[in-house]
Amino acid sequence: MLATGPIGFIGTGAITEAMVRGLLAPMPVVETVVVSPRNAAIAARLAADFPGVRIAGDNPEIVEACQTLVLAVRPQIAEEVIRPLQFRDGQRVISVIAATDRDRLLSWIGADVRLTQAIPLPFVARRAGVTAIYPPDALTAALFTAMGTTVECETRQEYDLLAAASAVMASYFGIMHRTNEWLADHGLAEQKGRAYIAPLFAELSRSAVAAVDTPFIDLSREYATKGGLNEQVFNDFETHGGTAALRTALDRVLARITG
Ligand SMILES: NC(=O)c1ccc[n+]([C@@H]2O[C@H](COP(=O)([O-])OP(=O)(O)OC[C@H]3O[C@@H](n4cnc5c(N)ncnc54)[C@H](OP(=O)(O)O)[C@@H]3O)[C@@H](O)[C@H]2O)c1
Repeated sequence: MLATGPIGFIGTGAITEAMVRGLLAPMPVVETVVVSPRNAAIAARLAADFPGVRIAGDNPEIVEACQTLVLAVRPQIAEEVIRPLQFRDGQRVISVIAATDRDRLLSWIGADVRLTQAIPLPFVARRAGVTAIYPPDALTAALFTAMGTTVECETRQEYDLLAAASAVMASYFGIMHRTNEWLADHGLAEQKGRAYIAPLFAELSRSAVAAVDTPFIDLSREYATKGGLNEQVFNDFETHGGTAALRTALDRVLARITG
């Protein structure tokens, strides 16, 4: 059990649900979680599933009751939600709000809190997340390590770069989708394509995780026979603008993150 005291979540949406599930099951790593009443359906579901979850009456009650707080509202409403709250010096605040930098958060919080930022991914729910945090902080790292693994960033630049890298998730599924679409266009039943592609991608990722010291490009070569089919596809990807498109997309998303 981590010594956080009750953890309060401001904003009970998709990522809060994932985190609360990851923190409380199968064995709880924190004793009590207090969630805000919005979204009502998610809050009710969590309270029904876990005896350790309590639904607060409103946001000020959470800030009053908890020494550790997670800010998990959408960026568009973050200022109007955070500014009126009365934070206390020394509270620990973990913001998972995207594209909202530390200085702005601290000015809205208006107290001398210990603020860390984090980018949890939905798989924290099954304790298989990888979470970038900034700046390094032992308790925040311990919380996210209980839900998978943690990468602690020493600088804002490192953190912003990992935030940009996390934006390739939809493209990962997009490549699976486009490949399956192509198979279907050529007459393969979609279910059959899916049954083949999903485990193929899963095992490639597992191989990359297992081969810690092998550069990705070496894995790419390892999976490509000289003059073979895989080598041909990757060469086509490179020469027909695939790599250029990927780099441009990452540049553009980084520019958006850094404002
Ligand atoms: N989803 C992810 O995978 C993910 C990953 C990393 C970071 N994030 C970040 O986490 C934040 C939340 O994302 P999300 O995907 O969980 O969004 P979401 O599902 O829309 O959740 C946001 C929640 O905030 C609630 N809310 C609205 N006004 C509120 C208020 N005044 N006080 C308290 N709660 C209020 C909403 O309730 P109603 O439904 O009643 O409006 C909603 O349930 C965002 O900043 C996002 O960038 C998300």
